[in-house]
Amino acid sequence: MLARCYRGKLSVWAALCVLVLCWFYIFPVYRLPRDKDIVEEVLRQGDAWQKNQTGIDLYRKLLTDCCDPRRMFAVTKENSPMGKVLWYDGEFYHSRTVTNDTYPLFVQDNPLQLPLKRCAVVGNSGILRHSQCGHDIDQADFIMRCNLPPLSKEYVEDVGTRSHLVTANPSIIEKRFQNLLWSRKAFVDSMKAYGSSYIYMPAFSMKPGTEPSLRAYYALADASSNLTMLFANPDFLATVGKFWKARGVHARRLSTGLFLVSLALGLCEEVTAYGFWPFSVGLDERPVSHHYYDNILPYKWFHAMPEEFVQLWHLHKSGTLRMRLGHCPPRSGGS
Ligand SMILES: *[C@@H]1O[C@H](CO)[C@@H](O)[C@H](O)[C@H]1NC(C)=O
Ligand SMILES: *[C@@H]1O[C@H](CO)[C@@H](O)[C@H](O)[C@H]1NC(C)=O
Ligand SMILES: *[C@@H]1O[C@H](CO)[C@@H](O)[C@H](O)[C@H]1NC(C)=O
Repeated sequence: MLARCYRGKLSVWAALCVLVLCWFYIFPVYRLPRDKDIVEEVLRQGDAWQKNQTGIDLYRKLLTDCCDPRRMFAVTKENSPMGKVLWYDGEFYHSRTVTNDTYPLFVQDNPLQLPLKRCAVVGNSGILRHSQCGHDIDQADFIMRCNLPPLSKEYVEDVGTRSHLVTANPSIIEKRFQNLLWSRKAFVDSMKAYGSSYIYMPAFSMKPGTEPSLRAYYALADASSNLTMLFANPDFLATVGKFWKARGVHARRLSTGLFLVSLALGLCEEVTAYGFWPFSVGLDERPVSHHYYDNILPYKWFHAMPEEFVQLWHLHKSGTLRMRLGHCPPRSGGS
């Protein structure tokens, strides 16, 4: 009797231990340097940076081998013919077969003019505020932005105006545009800020995101918009997720920013990242908001943002990409 009771307790403890270990695996706080140490290291490094062609070539090769961004980054008629089963990368065991209701919406093939030369990937961190990086960003040959960010007048100095590829999460269609079930005008009008960019939507990542994404496609197409809809390929998102997981990023899902940086590393000759800073304190020790356009402080647990930052920081230190964290240099006459 006593022995059985004891054994019962033991298995409860074992189960608890496993739970705690899982918890640490999912949220591996202990393996990360503290925010303060990261900030100090960034300050120590200062503006010193040197391009490393070996690193650039290496990462292009690694990403090409794992994820084939050239061919796979979007859903195309070429990589997703009729009858192809698209597995949702953000769901457990859900799929959608390409039929004649979705196939005609896909672009024929990768529409980007490759190779892209100098790319700017713009995250939305509050660290961009007062950065004066707008001019720098606008000088790039190909500019990628995350999740339909505002580009209105008050932000131009800090984030620039041009864009070539802008991601849009289906959840934003739901929140900002009533899921496009009513008027589509507000959506179509607000998209004009992005000129003739590609709108990159993860339409096949979460099941509830598919319908809003298809509606967004039709809203743009029906308005003869200059924007081109590209659906993110769930196979690509899954392989990029695995790539970073093998390098110690344990988020359930990567942030859009790290997907775009991966895409840029695979497709561009040079990558500069702006607005990636997941910490609530800036290099000047002042509070930094979550986004450059709001005042919310970063939320700790959803994406493994500090883990992602550490990866980007390694790439920066090795000269594989350049991260802009402080102010951009003042505009000089010639450049
Ligand atoms: C350049 O990149 C390669 C590959 O990532 C790395 O092994 C090397 O140490 C880097 N060189 C410098 C000077 O950081
Ligand atoms: C889609 O294919 C089915 C069967 O192949 C056909 O009956 C239907 O008319 C097609 N729909 C459209 C919109 O082409
Ligand atoms: C598309 O671009 C052209 C040329 O830049 C511009 O004249 C036109 O107004 C744009 N159309 C829409 C719907 O924004």
